[in-house]
Amino acid sequence: MQGSANLNVMIKAARAAGRSLVKDFREVENLQVSMKGAGDFVSKADIAAEKIIREELMEARPNYGWLAEEGGAAEGKDPTRRWIVDPLDGTTNFLHGLPHWAISIALEHKGEIIAGVVYDAAKDEMFYAEKGEGAWLNQSRLRVSGRSRMIECIFATGLPFGGRADLPETLQDLARILPSTAGVRRFGSAALDLAYVAAGRYDGYWERSLNAWDLAAGLLIVKEAGGLVQPMDADGSILEDGTIIAANEPIFEKFSGIVRDA
Ligand code: IPD
Ligand code: CA
Ligand code: CA
Repeated sequence: MQGSANLNVMIKAARAAGRSLVKDFREVENLQVSMKGAGDFVSKADIAAEKIIREELMEARPNYGWLAEEGGAAEGKDPTRRWIVDPLDGTTNFLHGLPHWAISIALEHKGEIIAGVVYDAAKDEMFYAEKGEGAWLNQSRLRVSGRSRMIECIFATGLPFGGRADLPETLQDLARILPSTAGVRRFGSAALDLAYVAAGRYDGYWERSLNAWDLAAGLLIVKEAGGLVQPMDADGSILEDGTIIAANEPIFEKFSGIVRDA
């Protein structure tokens, strides 16, 4: 796909941050240090990646606003456009030497995501989409899966860790969803969970308690691959509520009904 100038800037920024993170990831794999030492190292890698992305994006589009996990929010001279960035999604995997993490960069215009990039740098898989232009993985067009029987479908989710308050709800979700499906996965990167739904690797995904930077790029990639995305509360907003249900069209109604316990 011949992407727009904005998309090319986003891909360039993701690749630059990816090079830095891959270098640091090799270090983490070799680090024989305390968990705290490794944790500090990873948070430095994370902040360094965000700095690279910010410099690339702001140099190309100095007027756009900014929302990122590490560096917070800043309104731009152009109040209608902003970058939404998670420089490292899947931090716990990264810290443990698990090669499943990604850089997520989205461009929002007047409250709507118009371009998204999710880059799995360890596997060199670049997922990207622009509104109305389809979704892509490297040079190949993406399409959500066509499975329509829940019992053949695989779903992804996130499991609450460290005493998070949404544990009971998640356990109830699992009790409702597991019996009627081929399984549920918890791979640890919301951005890649969405990219994998777009690629038809998963048939659907749901999660609560997320932030805009986890979801912004991936949700457009799913939509442009022909999938459906909604917040848990159908009248709410995915990015404001931090909740999402994503799936291919044939199963969306059934799946979202089970997730919402409707
Ligand atoms: C996390 C990942 C994970 C999700 C967590 C997120 P981070 O992002 O996306 O899959 O379950 O809730 O916070 O912290 O690795 O950027
Ligand atoms: Ca994240
Ligand atoms: Ca992060």
